[in-house]
Amino acid sequence: MTAPPPLHLTPALSPETASLLDDTATLHQLVGALGSPLNIVLPQRIRSNVTAFHEVMAAHRIGGHIYYAHKANRSSALVRELAATDARIDVASPAELQHVLGSGFSPDRVMATGPKTPEFVWLCARSGITVNVDGVDELALLGRIVSGARLPQVQVLVRFSEFRTAGTTLLSKPSRFGCAAGDLDTVLALLDKFRDELRLRGVAFHLDTVGMPEKTRAIEGSLHLLDEFVRRGHAPTVLDIGGGYGVNYLSSAEEWDDFTTALGAALLGKRDHITWQGSGYGLRNDGGRLRGTLGLYPAHRPVAGPGYLDGLLSAAAPTMQRPLGTIILENMYDLYIEPGRALLDQCGSAMARVLEVRTSPTGETLVRMDMNARDVSLEEHGVQLDPVLVPQDSVPRRAGSGYLIGNLCLESDLISRRKIFFPAMPTAGDLLAFPNTAGYFMDFSADHALGQPVATKVAMYSEAGRWKWKLDDQYWPLSPQWLDHSSDQSNSQEP
Ligand SMILES: Cc1ncc(COP(=O)(O)O)c(C=O)c1O
Repeated sequence: MTAPPPLHLTPALSPETASLLDDTATLHQLVGALGSPLNIVLPQRIRSNVTAFHEVMAAHRIGGHIYYAHKANRSSALVRELAATDARIDVASPAELQHVLGSGFSPDRVMATGPKTPEFVWLCARSGITVNVDGVDELALLGRIVSGARLPQVQVLVRFSEFRTAGTTLLSKPSRFGCAAGDLDTVLALLDKFRDELRLRGVAFHLDTVGMPEKTRAIEGSLHLLDEFVRRGHAPTVLDIGGGYGVNYLSSAEEWDDFTTALGAALLGKRDHITWQGSGYGLRNDGGRLRGTLGLYPAHRPVAGPGYLDGLLSAAAPTMQRPLGTIILENMYDLYIEPGRALLDQCGSAMARVLEVRTSPTGETLVRMDMNARDVSLEEHGVQLDPVLVPQDSVPRRAGSGYLIGNLCLESDLISRRKIFFPAMPTAGDLLAFPNTAGYFMDFSADHALGQPVATKVAMYSEAGRWKWKLDDQYWPLSPQWLDHSSDQSNSQEP
């Protein structure tokens, strides 16, 4: 019997990411000097991602702002580079707020989202940033703080997660955040009570999904809410549709289909396992039938990021039956978006050293890495893509397959529960790079388990056609021309 063909999930690489991963000598030097794991961010790339979102809004003739969801990556280099664009930023904690104010963002370009502590609410109000309130209690607290501390009026967006129109509740994806439809009267009463302290700028939602139907329902529901606020004496101008635009991680739709088909076949016993101990990622064999729901991110996404926003604005409102973008334009609302993952598309890669390749007692090949599953939390977030081999030498390698295991003393510490099919098998001393991991996979979950350091972060940037690098914290978006004294001297007059 012939062995089934290898199941690759080849990552989609931008030309910059591909060129970086080709520079094996630099990558080995960096990991040698700064340790494994190592996170590399590409701050310059975030500029083109911002531009692509702007272009979509311009094509729909819609004004508004792009708020980068900072939570997706703690990098200073990315935040500072973004501060040098006209993008804005969404913060979800006091530390993030302090970080962005120290990175070049003025308060009028910052918005706080998500549930907040009283201390965070005070800091938001005191700093004069926009507050996207997560519920009625938070709205009341904000009003009391602004009034009690005699602070300037705060610009407020109210986040909803349930919407009602003509007496029926519009269902969007259930969320434990934001106000319910039934909170509207309380919100209005609080806005009246704190009329001097709070100014309603608009309505917001964020749904943790890339599902279009849920989003179109939420947008239409928000438009109704905006009408209602106007009817009740307010003058909101903003519709904030949150994040969730998605990223395409894979270069081939066919490979993704082959993998999901093979997963089902393996669970039904029709082929060898392709996952650790037969893990089904949410699917299971129930008496010979496949049941459950695949709990993986749809890693091949032909329409993602700015393209997804374009699709959303072009989609018809479920009951009004007209393109959502047209309705937003006609009402002259400003559109706010809060992309995290999508703004970080191709903005960085995690990498780590291979410590050993060995065979388990059950005959599985194990590739032991100098990192753990939290250092590159692809499994936790359900994203599957193949790592790229960064070889230490030019010795030819055979193809092979195996599971990536981490450096913790936990059976569960698997960097990938999916069997990786390598075109060239790694050996101890090689590096494996996990491309396009800047959005959530680098530092969202990383910790000091076993007292091990979290990955050092390095910013790589191109200057005069060459890759250069700095520690993330040392990177500022300064043009070399601005530092060149010679141009001053050439203009100066001789005494
Ligand atoms: C309020 C809010 N806005 C924006 C985002 C960013 O979402 P994404 O990275 O999927 O674009 C999140 C993510 O959790 C969020 O909670």
